Amino acid sequence: MAKTVYVLNGPNLNLLGTREPKTYGHATLGDVETLCREAAGRRKLAIEFRQSNHEGEIVDSIQEAGAKKAAGIVINAGAYTHTSVAIRDAIAAIAVPVIEDHISNVFARESFRHHSHIAPLANAS
Ligand code: DQA
Repeated sequence: MAKTVYVLNGPNLNLLGTREPKTYGHATLGDVETLCREAAGRRKLAIEFRQSNHEGEIVDSIQEAGAKKAAGIVINAGAYTHTSVAIRDAIAAIAVPVIEDHISNVFARESFRHHSHIAPLANAS
């Protein structure tokens, strides 16, 4: 059976395509999912692609990835990146490699976006 990578998208990423296009571009979350599925297919990986506006649901997905011994998690936690100790603790609680990603360059934006609770635990950003 193919190993599974969880691709987790946080709040407001469901609005990609229309949300602040100068910052986030015109691609939709559906476009992102297609790219992820193509990349995973080339590597014979399965993808569990999710988006949630709710912190606890993201925690649930991280715990699920841990329980199912996922091959990895790729997470764009959106604004929760900068605020969520709960998401940070969920990542700390499991033994699954994590890659943090963002669409925009958070370091070129407001100072409140410069800190990530996830980055210290991530294997890559
Ligand atoms: C984001 C950056 C965050 O600061 C912001 O709150 C988002 C999107 C990005 O992908 O660039 O929602 O994670």
